[in-house]
Amino acid sequence: MLNQNFDRHRRLRNSAAMRDLVRETVLHTDDLIYPIFVKEGQEPKTEVTSMPGVFQFPLHELESEVATLIDLGIKAIILFGLPDDKDDVGSGAYHDHGIVQEAIRLVKRVAPEMIVIADTCLCEFTDHGHCGIFENGDVENDKSLELLKKTAISQAEAGADIIAPSNMMDGFVKIIREGLDEAGYNNIPIMSYAVKYASAFYGPFRDAANSAPQFGDRKTYQMDPANRLEALREAASDEREGADFLIVKPSLSYMDIIRDVRNQTNLPVVAYNVSGEYAMVKAASANGWIDEKRIVLEMLTSMKRAGVSLIITYFAKDVATYLKGDA
Ligand code: PBG
Repeated sequence: MLNQNFDRHRRLRNSAAMRDLVRETVLHTDDLIYPIFVKEGQEPKTEVTSMPGVFQFPLHELESEVATLIDLGIKAIILFGLPDDKDDVGSGAYHDHGIVQEAIRLVKRVAPEMIVIADTCLCEFTDHGHCGIFENGDVENDKSLELLKKTAISQAEAGADIIAPSNMMDGFVKIIREGLDEAGYNNIPIMSYAVKYASAFYGPFRDAANSAPQFGDRKTYQMDPANRLEALREAASDEREGADFLIVKPSLSYMDIIRDVRNQTNLPVVAYNVSGEYAMVKAASANGWIDEKRIVLEMLTSMKRAGVSLIITYFAKDVATYLKGDA
């Protein structure tokens, strides 16, 4: 047969073993961070309607959930709190015995090896649902920073391993870094929600965390989905201010941004595979329209290929189960 003058790409795909040999990106359970919603009170856990398989946990059911995660090999969780009472300054966020602080203490007591990340924001704790102090028709940047700093320090005191500020105030990494250092926590890293868009993909989370804004929207602090250069400026300032990890959120519609941030920084980049992305897959899968396992593995592998080191995902337990089965 004549040797044709073109490239034979199929040579490297011609068997499963060959494909394994040349695979460039591999997803590991170590890459996953599992979000957990913790609520005050004695009621049993409740499933979030728009997020099948995701629950709001009371503290007394948290220990068994953490044991399940450890069995699956999941090494990190990120905690979100649902307080019974809210006020206009979100005091539950920085109370020594707030729901997140208590959950951190519990997890570190029953599973000291679990990396506990505290989401540092006010929206779950304010009665208006905004991520900071709301005055004169907008969220006040600098006043909100002071409360965020208090929140981060109280989470560190409770035993959090990583602080993850998510409220998109300017200067939040700088203020939190200074606050942690002054309080003696210079070894606690900051995983900043550096690039966070004002996204419709957060809809189901706001059901899960009861954190929808009661009026207005978050567009004066979260980013416009149309912007790319602005993402690079946000990432650069958080890195300058001392962030140790940079989160890009959401992930699926923002793979270009993940790659851009990856190319700009040497810090670990983290994708937040958000609630709306989870809900869409679960809904299509419940209808039998897609192959959930293959879709989930393809989505998460693509995030790694786009450049992230870690993925915060509600699919973490599913993925850890799939990967165990494949091992
Ligand atoms: C808190 C916060 C939100 C999410 C994570 N942290 C909601 C928001 O910013 O509106 C969304 C996560 C998700 O949709 O899964 N500010």
